[in-house]
Amino acid sequence: MLILGIESSCDETGLALYSEDLGLIAHLVNSQIDLFTEYGGVIPEIAARDHSAKIIGILKQLLKQTDHNLEDINLIAYTAGPGLIGSLMIGETVAKTIANVLNIELLPINHLEGHILAPGLEEDGLEPPYLCLLVSGGHTQIIRCDGYGEYKIIGETIDDACGEAFDKVGKLLKLEYPGGPKVSKLAENGDSKRFKFPRAMMKDKNLNFSFSGLKTSVLYALEDLNEEDHADVAASFQEAVIDALTTKLMWAVQDTKIHKLVCSGGVASNKLLRERLKQMAANNNLEVSYPRMEFCTDNAAMIAYAGFIRKKFKLPIYPTNFARPRWPLGELYD
Ligand code: KG4
Ligand code: ZN
Repeated sequence: MLILGIESSCDETGLALYSEDLGLIAHLVNSQIDLFTEYGGVIPEIAARDHSAKIIGILKQLLKQTDHNLEDINLIAYTAGPGLIGSLMIGETVAKTIANVLNIELLPINHLEGHILAPGLEEDGLEPPYLCLLVSGGHTQIIRCDGYGEYKIIGETIDDACGEAFDKVGKLLKLEYPGGPKVSKLAENGDSKRFKFPRAMMKDKNLNFSFSGLKTSVLYALEDLNEEDHADVAASFQEAVIDALTTKLMWAVQDTKIHKLVCSGGVASNKLLRERLKQMAANNNLEVSYPRMEFCTDNAAMIAYAGFIRKKFKLPIYPTNFARPRWPLGELYD
């Protein structure tokens, strides 16, 4: 079985080849991030156009470098949602066209399932059960993975994603998009105790997150401050975000009694978050792992792998015919 994986849910165009016998053969990702620096965020129409302009070229490159022909592929796993509709439709159209021409099976994959299973791409890959803290520009979720195909979101943001909050605060601090890495760099020289920014929904062991009030507090704080205070603001903001993430993840551990943790998504590269999770794991006898960064951020390797797992364990295949901008994880088989 040779699976072609296709990812185009947001601003990364990803193609991958995954073999039943050899595992991941190769994957390529084109990030559109440079296109959006001047806008300070993803513009959906530009994202879709860029997927359309690049996807075939990347596919050709992938086949060439792996010495494969299109005809070698016998299964296509593509991201059918959730994501930006224009972006999703480019990957979907390519997937449907190839599948129809080659007369092979098509597996629509939920993007979140890709992220949840991504740790399995590593050689000593983690096996369920585990808790996944998925933190990126589009997601902030604690997902309970009890087994392959058995996922439950037990906590998630009710407004901004945590990477999005970093990016918005980056904008307030006049840092270039995406602000996340720049805010955390600036925070290294700041006093994280100077400002006590709010941690939302900390009562009753609620596992959900909210970051929009935090962003507003930063906005108000900045009204009376100068540029030399920015490092303290960045550090205090980062502290508030990481405090919320780690506190709630620990509550999730206590609730579920699951002691294996995975942290994934673009924000998983945040140094302080990693440090705090390491401490938390050491103090509570937990195991925490991170898929390597290229599998943490959006990529097609995880989509091909999710397709492989669905076939291997004979899990139901979602019968969608259309890309789904909204596709709750709980509706995998509806
Ligand atoms: O998973 P990802 O590459 O892409 C999508 O969300 O599509 O995540 C990108 C997000 C951005 O919001 C970026 O600012 C944030 O992850 N990010 C960080 C760090 N590195 C990336 N946020 C905080 N600290 C970092 N070191
Ligand atoms: Zn993603």
